[in-house]
Amino acid sequence: MTAPLPGGALDRLAARARVRIRHERTRLDPAALARFVGTADAAITLLADPVRAHVFENCPALRIVANYAVGVDNIDLDEARRRGIWVTNTPDVLTDATADLAWTLILGITRRVLEGDGMMRSGRFDGWRPDLLLGTGLQGKTLGIIGYGRIGRAVARRGIAFGMQIATLARPGGVALDPPARTLPLEELLAGSDILSLHCPLTPETRHLLDEAHLRMLPEGAFVINTARGPVLDEAALARVLADGHLGGAALDVYEHEPEVHPGLLRRSDVLLMPHAGSATVETRSAMADLAVANVEAVLDGREPPAPVVRGNNGDHT
Ligand code: DGY
Repeated sequence: MTAPLPGGALDRLAARARVRIRHERTRLDPAALARFVGTADAAITLLADPVRAHVFENCPALRIVANYAVGVDNIDLDEARRRGIWVTNTPDVLTDATADLAWTLILGITRRVLEGDGMMRSGRFDGWRPDLLLGTGLQGKTLGIIGYGRIGRAVARRGIAFGMQIATLARPGGVALDPPARTLPLEELLAGSDILSLHCPLTPETRHLLDEAHLRMLPEGAFVINTARGPVLDEAALARVLADGHLGGAALDVYEHEPEVHPGLLRRSDVLLMPHAGSATVETRSAMADLAVANVEAVLDGREPPAPVVRGNNGDHT
């Protein structure tokens, strides 16, 4: 395990296997990760651990990479597939926590919570005024969602409760959506979204999906929310589009060059920033640990893990 995990799930593993936990907080490169994993049968990895081909090549006993995250963009999935090594993730258990955080960001940025908090702490609040800190109402507005998977749909359900219209990308095959959402081509979705919230995985197709041209297609005063993966959004372009006043604001939980943030965003009061905390509740982080450990236990027992992303061959390398 490349980090200690919250909750008691590790004790289950420790009762049956030799468990090695990395406690250093420095970032691993593929060579250092391969050295750490060494001859282990299983690795529990974090979302920034680069599980690239080098790791698979140099860890001959590896049967499963159990990512402690739902996103698996840090893992070379093709290489795992080629070698018959299981890759698993932690879906479902973090859906509500992440949707709640997306909504924390939506409400925080549209109601200017950061500015209000700063005003109070610096003693600048000198009494109620009709025009003090006016925000943007949500009722009747359109919430555009890119990535209508588990988390996107949970964000949509909350949006419906807030009286918003929901729109998402048209899908091939025109499957019925639950909760129902208007489906539109990307350009129309952008042009009609008062709030645009990203929930798609990071893949070669979604990298910089929201580039400068696309950001400028959003209506004037729109808000951009990203709790998915940083590189889906061109952060430098976002800084430029905010600087010339086209957008109402942005709220980010994830960053293109995480943990760095584009300096053009740091100075702005119309930007709300969180440190990749979508799943960060006590309950969710221990449920994620339980699921990651359950994935490992299953593979060590020769069973199918509960949350497979890439199917392994259970050690049958013939
Ligand atoms: C994930 O699971 O992919 C999140 O980014 C962290 O919980």
